[in-house]
Amino acid sequence: MEDILNKAREYEKENESKMEGLRPSFHLTPRVGWMNDPNGFCYYKGQYHMFYQYHPYDNHWGPMHWGHAVSSDLLHWEYLPVVLAPDMEYDKRGCFSGSAIELSDGRHLIMYTGVSETVDENGNKTECQTQCVAVGDGVNYVKYENNPVLTSDDVPEGGSHIDFRDPRLFEGKDGLIYCLVGNRSSDTSGQMLLYKSMDGFKWEFVHIIAQNRNSFGKMWECPDFFLQDGKWVLLTSPQDMEAIPGRYNSGNGTLCLIGNWDGEDSDFEVENNQCIDNGIDYYAPQTITLADGRRIMIGWMQNWDTCNNYTPSDLWCGQMSIPREVTVRDGRLYQVPAKEIESLRGDLISVLNMKLNGEYSAEILNGRKLDLTVKVRPSEGKVYDNFEVRFFQKDNNYAFVKYNTHESMVTLSREFTGVRRAIVNKTSCSVDNKGGEIELRIILDKYSAEVFINGGKYAMTIDVYNDQSFDGISFVSDSEALIDIEKYSLEK
Ligand code: FRU
Repeated sequence: MEDILNKAREYEKENESKMEGLRPSFHLTPRVGWMNDPNGFCYYKGQYHMFYQYHPYDNHWGPMHWGHAVSSDLLHWEYLPVVLAPDMEYDKRGCFSGSAIELSDGRHLIMYTGVSETVDENGNKTECQTQCVAVGDGVNYVKYENNPVLTSDDVPEGGSHIDFRDPRLFEGKDGLIYCLVGNRSSDTSGQMLLYKSMDGFKWEFVHIIAQNRNSFGKMWECPDFFLQDGKWVLLTSPQDMEAIPGRYNSGNGTLCLIGNWDGEDSDFEVENNQCIDNGIDYYAPQTITLADGRRIMIGWMQNWDTCNNYTPSDLWCGQMSIPREVTVRDGRLYQVPAKEIESLRGDLISVLNMKLNGEYSAEILNGRKLDLTVKVRPSEGKVYDNFEVRFFQKDNNYAFVKYNTHESMVTLSREFTGVRRAIVNKTSCSVDNKGGEIELRIILDKYSAEVFINGGKYAMTIDVYNDQSFDGISFVSDSEALIDIEKYSLEK
């Protein structure tokens, strides 16, 4: 049989030099080709590991491999050889998303969804998803001889055998390992199945801990489940969301459920729900806890609804977001850029207490790799309706983030960037009305903007693949407002 893994390893080694100069500065991109979901994000043997859904041969999705990169600060990444390829009968249609955990004997276990096909008596082919494991040392992984470890036999009655994917491993008490798997129930929407194991190889179904019941989209993909600040948090990426204007976008979305969970046999009791990121390009995030206790989240900085009709180059497509520190406060998930990003900062340039009525720009504030914070408040006795930061700008081509004080709405748009007629070009997010005051922290890195609003209470992310020479920044207010600007260039 063809050695599919080594073929991919050779290919990426031979072709990665073509990517020189094309990558963003501090966002992880595929070694070459296509990337989607983060997989197996973890700390193992003194390094952060990021695996990812990977099709090295093309800038579009294809038979899924697992790419691999390691880092000591979550910003400088070094590529390691691809670790999984679709080379077994049980995963020949792809090694789909999954996660990783360190076993008690120090070996590294990754669990992923193997996609295969079954043929019925009439010769019709159907896709089948099962959960598989591989064990390794942080570089090379060997698929377990008794794969798959969870099959359709382990799915509770009514659960789909086709939509059964994206195992999320997490530690229980006394060496127990849990695994949460996304599944489609008989009502056609998502549910989360909990399994347990003592060794990572023999698994037992425990309980359906959460059911969508058609409230948030259909199938729930890519779960993550963790205890943070006294609350349990379930992250998932639902397909086919219906929009709730200002709160959820339609299509492939992200969902954060916050609540309580009493363990194993109990249901996850949801108290609050929110979109994880109200922008366009964010999906399937995974989290880890660092040694200092911070929880860090990284998501795929792209969306299925928009990536198929535009790719940045013939050679690659897909990026991961910056690492974001997440906390839970007052029933909400907050996210801010991990403090590691500050190590990339150059000198501070600030413009404080400036009265703005109309448009302001200054050469010294321009750039496409920036950490930019803008605070806006009404000037005494005055009211402004709209405040806007334009970026990646040249003349009338620009992306923008706009705050409308009447609607208490922030809009992020790439409508006027000069490229890309994607189906989705703009999204909005309702924010609290603080009497016309808002704080926007914007991280730019060549092709993307990640916007953190009011101390990370809301986040919005967008990709913009326009010309790199379009590096203008401007600030626009339709009536007098007071603004503070703090800008750092970011350089690796
Ligand atoms: C989410 C997803 C996962 C699946 C993977 C396939 O983006 O659809 O559910 O495992 O992508 O690449």
